[in-house]
Amino acid sequence: MNEVQIIGTGSYAPLNIMTNQQMSELVDTSDEWIVSMTGIKQRHISQGENTSDLATKAALEALKDANVKPEDIDLIIVASTSPDQFVPATACIVQGNIGADSAMAFDISAACTGFIFALNIAMQFLKTGDRKRALIIGAEVLSKIVDWTDRNTCILFGDGAGAAVIEVGTKRGIISVDSASEGKKFDLLTCPTVDVINTFSRGKVDFKAKIDMDGKEIFRFAVNIIVSSIDKILKENNYTLDDIKYVVCHQANFRIIDFVVKRLKADKDKFFVNLDKYGNTSAASIAIALDEMNKTNLLNAGDKIILVGFGGGLTYGASLIEWTISK
Ligand code: UT7
Repeated sequence: MNEVQIIGTGSYAPLNIMTNQQMSELVDTSDEWIVSMTGIKQRHISQGENTSDLATKAALEALKDANVKPEDIDLIIVASTSPDQFVPATACIVQGNIGADSAMAFDISAACTGFIFALNIAMQFLKTGDRKRALIIGAEVLSKIVDWTDRNTCILFGDGAGAAVIEVGTKRGIISVDSASEGKKFDLLTCPTVDVINTFSRGKVDFKAKIDMDGKEIFRFAVNIIVSSIDKILKENNYTLDDIKYVVCHQANFRIIDFVVKRLKADKDKFFVNLDKYGNTSAASIAIALDEMNKTNLLNAGDKIILVGFGGGLTYGASLIEWTISK
């Protein structure tokens, strides 16, 4: 089996920033409530760019960072809850945009755990030698599926994309990836598409592609699953939290991360947080965080980090990584 490593990262968020103050002009909320309950101060909101546009920009930046030409990519996976269209896959649009003509390109739907799932899938392709170099992208324009009248959800989400190039190499960069789903709880976080209306079924006339969520249950699930995922991946690989430089949780709510820190009796500085600037960007959040850490030189070759996600599905997963990019 081949070893696999991350060789470059990129990210992009729409330039338009929406503050909590602007949010309070739309729904009955306040900066104070949003900051104290979530840690979010602002989010980037698209003024027309679609998911593939954001994904393309993040992908080009990751390719540049990795010093890889688009034609040398042979696998593109886009994880998204908010793809451009049913058909084609957003990954195919990105492939066309960047000219990665030799790649197989497809999308996956694993909500906020999408980037971890994409990493897991790409790693399998690379480990077996079927593919050599993959571009994995988490990209979302959640603002098009957010219910802008629902203060329980609209304050949380933002638009953005993050990408990473991973390739077969000599170093064991991606040490382990674990991902799983709990489909029995599928209805805790949903966004419907079209109803079944055809010659044989009248269905419902209501078309409402809007995010709906049981926030409290998701919160509870998130804290428990992050703690158990971190425990599991550490034990399976004979590491302890002391060996880990940073934990990068899906950026959903600062209080979720805070609970995890307390449950693990961990140093809070080990937990990277940038949700104050982006809100919850679902499949993009971990990838955007990773890119920020890479570009601000927080990571040194040899550092061990854990990425851990959770989300609709319900889905969850974690990855233990040794950073292999030298400054
Ligand atoms: O990627 C995964 C996606 N999902 C998540 O990560 C969500 C996880 N859940 C959460 O982050 C939290 O559940 C929320 C931040 C969404 C809500 O926190 P909560 O502690 O579950 O609050 P709550 O829904 O019980 O609401 C508490 C109060 C309620 O008022 P009353 O009934 O106590 O009078 C709400 O109506 O806060 C009210 N409220 C708000 N007030 C001002 C709810 N949303 C808002 C708001 N602004 N935006």
